[in-house]
Amino acid sequence: PEIGKLLGRIKYVARSCKEIRDKYQVHDDGLYYLISSSGVLYQTFCDMTTAGGGWTLVASVHENNMYGKCTVGDRWSSEQGSNEKRPNGEGTWENRVTFGTVEGATSDDYKKFPVRFGIGTCIIDNGPVIPIVYDTGIIFEPGFIAFRVFNTEKAAMAICSGVKPTGCHTEHFCIGGGGHFPEGFPVQCGDFASFDWSGYGTNVEWSASKEITEAAVLLFYR
Ligand code: G3P
Ligand code: CA
Ligand code: CA
Repeated sequence: PEIGKLLGRIKYVARSCKEIRDKYQVHDDGLYYLISSSGVLYQTFCDMTTAGGGWTLVASVHENNMYGKCTVGDRWSSEQGSNEKRPNGEGTWENRVTFGTVEGATSDDYKKFPVRFGIGTCIIDNGPVIPIVYDTGIIFEPGFIAFRVFNTEKAAMAICSGVKPTGCHTEHFCIGGGGHFPEGFPVQCGDFASFDWSGYGTNVEWSASKEITEAAVLLFYR
């Protein structure tokens, strides 16, 4: 009966949300079953409404404990402290390891631009900056997603979700990264780096709001 129930819910045979949209003309946001390239059946969220829909959720970045500086749960930076000798941190941005409940992976673009401490210099070595459909601007120039960003101390962040940095204190609004954040060692180390430099959720000076600090950043592929 369990298998029967499950099969009843698999209405669509598809590899991606885009395929569900295109093949079956589905336009409702929600959870759908997809089949991975290796034949594994898994469930994920499809955004079928934003910018034409067909977006497959592939990952999420969440800060479980802003007070834990590169400790357990900082899987997008380092779970083992801020350490110059571990510039990749957990290596999440360059490996194919999956974790969590969604069979997720970063895209090829992220893997082309490894995120690790010390391999680049602020502004000149940053990765692509792409205009996106996004409804929240924080500081600097909103309306973009930027990849592989370095701060003043060469700490590497993976994504600036919603903004294009025009300065180098990117640790206050960019997320994920390598395994070493030198400034204020180790307080800037973590999945949400230094969102709390001027206090937790205070939304003043160098701190993000509580809403942003406690949000998850969802990454979609189409
Ligand atoms: O990222 C902010 C930091 O580099 C400077 O902080 O407290 O000296 O303004 P503060
Ligand atoms: Ca985390
Ligand atoms: Ca700084």
